[in-house]
Amino acid sequence: MGYLSTDRKKITAKTLREMKVAKEKIAQITAYDFTTAKIFDEAGIDSILVGDSASNVMCGNDTTLPISLDEMIYHAKSVAKACSRAFVVCDMPFGSYQVSREEGVRNAIRIMKESGVDAVKLEGGSEIIDTVKGILAAGIPVVGHLGLTPQSVHKFGGYGVRAKEEAEADKLLKDAKLLNDAGVCALVLEKVPRSLAAEVSKQIEAPTIGIGAGCDTDGQVLVYADALGMTHEFKPKFLRHFANVSKCMTAGITDYMKCVKEQTFPNADESY
Ligand code: KIV
Repeated sequence: MGYLSTDRKKITAKTLREMKVAKEKIAQITAYDFTTAKIFDEAGIDSILVGDSASNVMCGNDTTLPISLDEMIYHAKSVAKACSRAFVVCDMPFGSYQVSREEGVRNAIRIMKESGVDAVKLEGGSEIIDTVKGILAAGIPVVGHLGLTPQSVHKFGGYGVRAKEEAEADKLLKDAKLLNDAGVCALVLEKVPRSLAAEVSKQIEAPTIGIGAGCDTDGQVLVYADALGMTHEFKPKFLRHFANVSKCMTAGITDYMKCVKEQTFPNADESY
């Protein structure tokens, strides 16, 4: 399994490129807190994304829009503290980089200074390329994000597959090349046709990380609560449940309640 099984060395932006060249797939997952991130890091995950999906998963919001920069820094700091190996990426939340290049650079610097993550992620292509260049010029690794960019859900009118039409697919390919030429260290492709994701992955040097983008990207990312079966109502075609954590937690909490009610917990050995 390459890096996963043999190497405990810290994964960097450079490692991600080397993995693409070596054709070793990058396994990325989201996390938002210390305890969960520590489990994933010790299991050998290559990269952890502190996604703004924290807005949905941690705060119960319908979209990623409400989460603030301070809240993202809080989550990112907890995750970064837990990781000795995984490459940790923090999403820049909605509103923290769209207004101006200067504000985007300032907020990216805040994330790096206050959280200790390895890179920031921004959604968009040509519209934000100056800001991406400014952040890179400040010495901060940047991950791009194209296709279904959830911060634009109201513009798209939903969470459907993007770039099915030629014009949008052409723009996506151009944006991917722009971001690649600017020097992004990876590019997330969300909910786009497999053939388009394969073409982008072939045409750029930066590793692509897909979610709902087929198997030809250089890596995959999933939201951990979905991948591990903590959520069941959200079941898009691209999602696979790799565990049934909600079942396991329900069984555990039911047993705990029962033991408390029956007064079998705590027993003599569990008392001082
Ligand atoms: O916020 C997030 O979790 C993401 C992934 C879905 C790519 O951006």
